[in-house]
Amino acid sequence: MSAVALAYAALLIFSAAMLVIGVALKIRLYLRTPAPLKIPTTPAPKTRRGVALRMAREVVFFESLFRSSKWTWLFGWTFHAALFVVLLRHVRYFQQPVWEPVVMVQAVGAYAGFAMVAGLAGLWARRWLVDRVRYISTPSDHLHLVLLLAIGASGLAMRFFNHTDIVAVKTFTLGLLRLELNPLPLDGPLLIHLALVALLMAIFPISKLMHAPGLFFSPTRNQADNAREKRHLAPWAAGLERRT
Ligand code: HEM
Ligand code: HEM
Repeated sequence: MSAVALAYAALLIFSAAMLVIGVALKIRLYLRTPAPLKIPTTPAPKTRRGVALRMAREVVFFESLFRSSKWTWLFGWTFHAALFVVLLRHVRYFQQPVWEPVVMVQAVGAYAGFAMVAGLAGLWARRWLVDRVRYISTPSDHLHLVLLLAIGASGLAMRFFNHTDIVAVKTFTLGLLRLELNPLPLDGPLLIHLALVALLMAIFPISKLMHAPGLFFSPTRNQADNAREKRHLAPWAAGLERRT
């Protein structure tokens, strides 16, 4: 077995562990962070059901971004929706047999990679071309977009120009799930793709990509506007009130 396959197996397992453990620790921190104030962004729903509906619209359609900037919405939504389809298509590398929905999305989503890269290119252009956005953009903002662009470009290179042996790739990834080592095709785009994916997984919990789970813990989004009907008390304040 090649040393490269061993190194990639170790790298992917290590970075996947960083992703899972890192995200779990961050979520535990979010769960423990006090939200002492009632601060939903108004106009806000008055019931929990309404909050769940608004949250769903936010996650699926990026409703508030649509209201604030149509261009950012167009590129941002295109990128995220395409990423979702691309990731769903990738599930086939980790299952045998493959789920019916994942099989169905293969043909429909064959070109999702282009939409993902186009969305990212638009978001990156925005960071250079819009003066006030360029002014507040940090190297980290640029690097996230460059990393995702490079993952998309290396994926598309494999799919359309420099084909790799995807049956061997699947044997390798299925093996990883059982901590079993199988040969990995030694193709440039595949090795670049997987190294960048490992980097993405490793930095995920310590980067702004945590906005994905973080959204669900944002008090401005997950609180109902019911301060007049129901008194909002942080647990520590409830304790104080009992004593006085
Ligand atoms: C629940 C899932 C997710 C939701 C609802 C979500 C939503 C959003 C929204 C609303 C923005 C703001 C756009 C802006 O105002 O500039 C954004 C930005 C971004 N998202 Fe997500 N996201 C999710 C998951 C992800 C994932 C899994 C990734 C990548 C692995 C990702 C990568 C990015 C990047 C790189 C940006 C910054 C774009 C820029 O530079 O302008 N997102 N996301
Ligand atoms: C261990 C995880 C991953 C493996 C083994 C993997 C492997 C592959 C392979 C073999 C291809 C070529 C498909 C073909 O020739 O038909 C590909 C394409 C692609 N990959 Fe990945 N990939 C992984 C993770 C990711 C992630 C996390 C992203 C996005 C952030 C991504 C984005 C893409 C894109 C955009 C394409 C081209 C379009 C498509 O086939 O859907 N990959 N990947």
